[in-house]
Amino acid sequence: MYFDTHAHYDDKQYDEDRDALLKDLNKNNVGYIVNIGVDIKSSFASLELADKYPFVYASVGVHPHEAKNVKQEDYQTLENLLKQDKVVALGEIGLDYYYDLSDREVQKEVFKNQLKICENITKPVIIHSREATKDTLDIIKASKVRKGVVHAFSGSLEVAKEYINLGFYIGVGGVITFKNAKTLVNVVENIPLEYILIETDAPYLTPVPHRGTRNNSQNLRYVVEKIAEIKSIDKEIVEKTTFNIAKNFFCIN
Ligand code: NI
Repeated sequence: MYFDTHAHYDDKQYDEDRDALLKDLNKNNVGYIVNIGVDIKSSFASLELADKYPFVYASVGVHPHEAKNVKQEDYQTLENLLKQDKVVALGEIGLDYYYDLSDREVQKEVFKNQLKICENITKPVIIHSREATKDTLDIIKASKVRKGVVHAFSGSLEVAKEYINLGFYIGVGGVITFKNAKTLVNVVENIPLEYILIETDAPYLTPVPHRGTRNNSQNLRYVVEKIAEIKSIDKEIVEKTTFNIAKNFFCIN
């Protein structure tokens, strides 16, 4: 069975067939899904999905793209959401200096304020970091948060090791199947399987051979196959280990 640790099934791309698709995924080897919030609205939508489907859990938070829209009262809203049983993490939160859709100072401020929420409630954080490695690491180090995952990891092996030393896991998805994924392949090859969480980021980042189409959690099989190939181990071991690691990470019994 697969555990999809990062997906966005509240996205409008699933409006036509969401219910049928989710039920079908669960019947076909997808054991759990964590649906990820990117703003307040999608955080509530994630919890709604989690309440509706036993195999879906929610993460709540504001993505750096949306940082500019955060209001003071939103932090309390996120804290209240985070207390819900089916909300298993805070995120995705972080810094994105590639798109720069919010001012960098605002991104940093909103990232720090959200990390503070997790100082009182011991649930892991889901980090989005793009072209912002140094600032992301500095802000995490200055916080008290020591459990999380770096979603769609895109850094070097050295950076991966630094995150692991801080108590973080490495999120690996469809990108690992892309031709230009050399750096990520090197990371996956050289870190223990026990620190890898697999994810789709559906509807985005669809792995080869379906690249370019709408993603779904079934495509985790290509991610698992690729990790098995890189690490020269059975894909059954990758499937089973990543499933158990993710369950423990999100404290799902
Ligand atoms: Ni995402």
